[in-house]
Amino acid sequence: MASLREINAPIAEDINAFRKIFRETVRSRVPLLDLIMRYILKTKGKQMRPMFVMYSAGILGKINETTYRAATMIELMHTATLVHDDVVDDSFQRRGRFSVNYLWKNKIAVLAGDFLLSRGMLLALENKDYHLLEIISKAVKDMSEGELLQLEKARKLDISEDVYYEIIRKKTAALLASSMATGAASVTDDETLISKMHSIGENAGMAFQIRDDLFDLQGGNDSGKPTGIDIKEKKMTLPLIFLLQQSSRSEKRKIINIVKNDNENPEKVSWLIEQIRKSGGFDYSIKKMEEFNDKALDMLDSLPDNTYRHYMKKLIEYNVERKK
Ligand code: IPE
Ligand code: IPE
Ligand code: MG
Ligand code: MG
Repeated sequence: MASLREINAPIAEDINAFRKIFRETVRSRVPLLDLIMRYILKTKGKQMRPMFVMYSAGILGKINETTYRAATMIELMHTATLVHDDVVDDSFQRRGRFSVNYLWKNKIAVLAGDFLLSRGMLLALENKDYHLLEIISKAVKDMSEGELLQLEKARKLDISEDVYYEIIRKKTAALLASSMATGAASVTDDETLISKMHSIGENAGMAFQIRDDLFDLQGGNDSGKPTGIDIKEKKMTLPLIFLLQQSSRSEKRKIINIVKNDNENPEKVSWLIEQIRKSGGFDYSIKKMEEFNDKALDMLDSLPDNTYRHYMKKLIEYNVERKK
């Protein structure tokens, strides 16, 4: 597997251009906000979405200033939703450091997330990037719906495999799809191509979230995020849904009872994870993840062949093999 650094090499200058715009865009004269933004800038994350934007643009045309703004908007939205997500999930850690909500409390994290969202929208408006704004706004709408649908299912504990896919399509795949779509829209008006790129990103995004959900249950990764918080938050993800599908009525009751009432009891949660393993829930999830990724790779093959496509392939492969 190629490392992210290797995958980034052909677009290193473009990524630097995006980083510069990102840094400038999040400045604020409000001292507290500026402090939080500096903290966020210090812990930048993998910045995979900007790479998706660049490669998508590069496959179809010439990467340009609009591409850089698309990457910036996408990463702003991504960062905003992570800050909000950590409030929603009551998570204390992000990117190997304390989360914004942990350090400054929820009220401040909500407002900092709003600031990032509005900066993204304004960046688009200031440059009359209406098409990009439309694509990204749809994704942000999907993300809110996905997160809320997930919360609803965590209350009722009645999630099915199909609803799980709907949730991850909205909360995660939509943004990866729009990364690819905005990259494309920055170099072409051809809606067929833009929508093809959207589709590739969506499939890759599905795989991306399944990978993330496996990290949470299995641990042993370098993501810099706490593990085991999904069950604690009553979030039932694919491996657990698979176990439930394989279980008898009484086993189901026992499992649901742990998720509902004993989700902070380490012995019970370990037992549950062992059941998932024995049922083949992890293997099944890996299989599904690979199916989504393979679909993305197949669609990619139908696009013009050039260096960018070659690297986009590596990026999509990295998506499922990553350890962070
Ligand atoms: C985290 O995304 C949120 C999910 C959709 C799972 P990333 O893993 O890309 O986060 P960073 O930006 O690298 O921290
Ligand atoms: C993905 O949700 C993040 C968003 C869609 C905003 P998760 O809650 O599963 O992601 P992590 O594990 O906290 O990054
Ligand atoms: Mg969440
Ligand atoms: Mg979370």
